Amino acid sequence: MIRRLTIALWAAVALFAAPSMSLALENGLARTPPMGWNSWNKFACKGLNEKVVRETADQIASNGMKDAGYEYVIIDDCWQTGRDPQGNIVVDAEKFPSGIKALADYVHSKGLKFGIYSDAGTMTCAKRPGSIGHEYQDARQYAAWGVDYLKEDWCNTLPNQNSESSYTLMREALKASGRPIVFSICEWGSTKPWLWAGPVGNLWRATPDIQDCWDCKRTWGGGGVTQILDLMDGIESYAGPGHWNDPDMLEVGNGGMTTEEYRTHFSMWAIFSAPLLAGNDVANMTAQTKEILLNKEVIAIDQDTLGQQGRRVKKMGDTEIWSKQLADGGRAVALVNRGKAAGKITVAWNDIGYPAGLSATVRDLWAHKDETAKGSFTAEVPSHGTVMVRLKF
Ligand code: GLA
Repeated sequence: MIRRLTIALWAAVALFAAPSMSLALENGLARTPPMGWNSWNKFACKGLNEKVVRETADQIASNGMKDAGYEYVIIDDCWQTGRDPQGNIVVDAEKFPSGIKALADYVHSKGLKFGIYSDAGTMTCAKRPGSIGHEYQDARQYAAWGVDYLKEDWCNTLPNQNSESSYTLMREALKASGRPIVFSICEWGSTKPWLWAGPVGNLWRATPDIQDCWDCKRTWGGGGVTQILDLMDGIESYAGPGHWNDPDMLEVGNGGMTTEEYRTHFSMWAIFSAPLLAGNDVANMTAQTKEILLNKEVIAIDQDTLGQQGRRVKKMGDTEIWSKQLADGGRAVALVNRGKAAGKITVAWNDIGYPAGLSATVRDLWAHKDETAKGSFTAEVPSHGTVMVRLKF
């Protein structure tokens, strides 16, 4: 009798505990980090228009990016101008004379998906209308247009507006729309979203806005690649399939960093299991930019199905070792040199949880070469560069 009562009690506890124990948004999307392109980093408000977006979709579909996994074509801030008397969002007709539905159809016709941007407050960061009070109406409209991805920003929110409840409201609105829509939370890490956003969004910005520079902390919070590296350290355990920490979009190819620095940027985003959203002018990119964005071996690390965010396992002055566990039992390792001079960096198997006696195949993911090593691996790493390897034991 007592035993039966105990079992019943445990069953009841399990029933009540289950919903809050669910760590990921159960919409079945973004099982690996989303990949695609977003208009903001290159085109911002001024340069955004439907011609740019169509040309970008054409390029992605034909230049190898689609084959490499880039899928979502996302328009960021400045596509909207106001609301009509019924509260429907009004599209900027100068920038998008054919309307959003036609643009989404066009993107879909290329075998790609279409994403859009809004804001949880009264106005977006560029002072276009936000979604507050219109969440269900907007979500219905996005679904009718064929939107597959929503990024929701956090500018011009009300005093004391709660991030978790605001984003939960939009999550419910998207769900009610009946269309599968990836939900990207963008409150810049300001309320530690990794602590609450797992069941709310598919990804959440964990950092302020990326700047197209290597090391450049801005007073308002934005920063370069090295600032973001430090902010991503320590929040690994909150990410996984369907719910990712987002260190912001890629700057690769925008001109503010060297090729070596952009390689580090891309390598580290893969170690982070970060969304890979190109942010450059893909219709006019250099061979070096293309080589970085299309490095399928690095992309495979980002898209690894285990979905573990890599972690910094060692910091020795200006040099660092980051390691990411992979689904095949191996490890991706990034040897990062933040210093001004080239230098050697060694990763010992012990640093990444393997016994020193083992031999491993070491695949260099930028040189595309294999070698065998026992106990440790050493590489000469250029200033601001990264040697990224895939180890198989
Ligand atoms: C914020 C976001 C950026 C971008 C701009 C648009 O700064 O963090 O990613 O969307 O707004 O105004």
